[in-house]
Amino acid sequence: MAKVNKKIINQNMVDYQKEKNFAIQILLGKKSLAEFEYIVDYVSTIKLESKKMNPDGLVLFVGSGPIPLSAMLLADEGFNVDCLDFSNEAVLIGREIIKKFGYQKRIQIIAGDARLFNNYSVYDTIVLALEAGVNYHTKKEILEKIFTSMKPDGLVLVRSSNEKNSEGSYVNSSSYLENFFHVEQTIQTFSGYCSTKVCKMPVPHKADLI
Ligand SMILES: C[S@@+](CC[C@H](N)C(=O)[O-])C[C@H]1O[C@@H](n2cnc3c(N)ncnc32)[C@H](O)[C@@H]1O
Repeated sequence: MAKVNKKIINQNMVDYQKEKNFAIQILLGKKSLAEFEYIVDYVSTIKLESKKMNPDGLVLFVGSGPIPLSAMLLADEGFNVDCLDFSNEAVLIGREIIKKFGYQKRIQIIAGDARLFNNYSVYDTIVLALEAGVNYHTKKEILEKIFTSMKPDGLVLVRSSNEKNSEGSYVNSSSYLENFFHVEQTIQTFSGYCSTKVCKMPVPHKADLI
């Protein structure tokens, strides 16, 4: 059985509750998006991440949450984004947020578990939220599923924790990412709290093709 890391589970729950409570405040008209604690970090992160993406490509954001902020900022950069989340509550609240800010034409939210999702091959870029996959085992399952079914020339952006700054509160996928992907670049994101690994399918050696 997979080892349970309580610290990571708790941090995920705290982050999720915070985001959910803020989403409800927005929907009630009591808070604005500009007041969201992490808005500045999100804006600068998306500016960096979006530069790596095919500007005409379709994007999948995995783990969009009650405030699909990454997806909304990507839509502001001109992308069409599908979001995936396995929490029905996050999907319902997220859809209301999308509606409130008028993003229905550019963003749709799909309910589903990233470990079982069968449509990765449609997307040019897949972005994995820091909290998508609550332990090493599920994170690995998601990455494996993406790897075996994505477009061969697709791009995967994996947000991963920076151990030094986040003190083991999130799954650090860096160590086993390279089992699957060729990590082309690591971008420091979320003020150094996170890094985004820019991943591609490894190019096969000529000898393997013969
Ligand atoms: C708190 S949100 C953070 C994302 C943030 N709102 C953004 O725009 O970047 C992380 C979400 O990941 C979702 N999640 C975690 N594991 C998942 C999985 N296996 N499949 C789909 N969604 C998942 C959780 O339900 C949660 O809503």
